[in-house]
Amino acid sequence: MARIVELKHPLVSHHLATLRDKSTPPHLFREQVGRLSLLLAYEATAELPLEPICIETPLATMECLRLGCRIGLVPILRAGLGMSDAIQNLIPQAEVWHLGFYRDESTFQPVEYYQKFSDSPPEVVLIVDPMLATGGSACEGIRRVKEWGVEHISFLCIIAAPEGIEKVSATHPDVGIFTCAIDDHLNEQAYIVPGLGDAGDRIFNTL
Ligand code: PRP
Ligand code: URA
Repeated sequence: MARIVELKHPLVSHHLATLRDKSTPPHLFREQVGRLSLLLAYEATAELPLEPICIETPLATMECLRLGCRIGLVPILRAGLGMSDAIQNLIPQAEVWHLGFYRDESTFQPVEYYQKFSDSPPEVVLIVDPMLATGGSACEGIRRVKEWGVEHISFLCIIAAPEGIEKVSATHPDVGIFTCAIDDHLNEQAYIVPGLGDAGDRIFNTL
């Protein structure tokens, strides 16, 4: 069974309310995506491995700890970019590799248009996409990252539908899912209800 973490925190509830509101303009929407992404990344990186490092403070020599693995961020374009930009500020040494999918609006299947991965994969990858709806894009993204050779994968989204969680956890039970909210259901167009509408369009002001 996949690890499913739904963040319960007053700041998450507060920022989600603004994000979901249809009157929130794109610039504020982007800021809220960034804030919630930081909270998700904080939770999803709680078990990253550390290694000792010896440093000099102004007063003494001291053994400290620093991150002991290569970390990759994989945003699913377009909307995932709104999350990876924010998380890169929190983890400046993270590598960012891209996957481009759009969802065919009649079949709801993901259609690939871009993939940029290196020859040597990072040890840990956070795949980021604000919306987990049917789970098609997430499952395909996770499959690609596994095929690349990554063993430790987490999927971070801002809003998830029960249908998407079910699909991802059944297909990839080894991948942790971190979300700010699990919503009620998908509508006939496979949009999350109550959701926030089209995340990519709201981030990029292309409504
Ligand atoms: C959205 C979203 C996910 C996908 C989720 O992308 O950002 O990638 O839909 O749906 P699923 O779980 O049913 O696959 P969209 O196709 O709108 O592309 P965009 O990010 O370029 O706007
Ligand atoms: N993609 C979105 O941007 N929103 C949804 O509700 C579902 C898919």
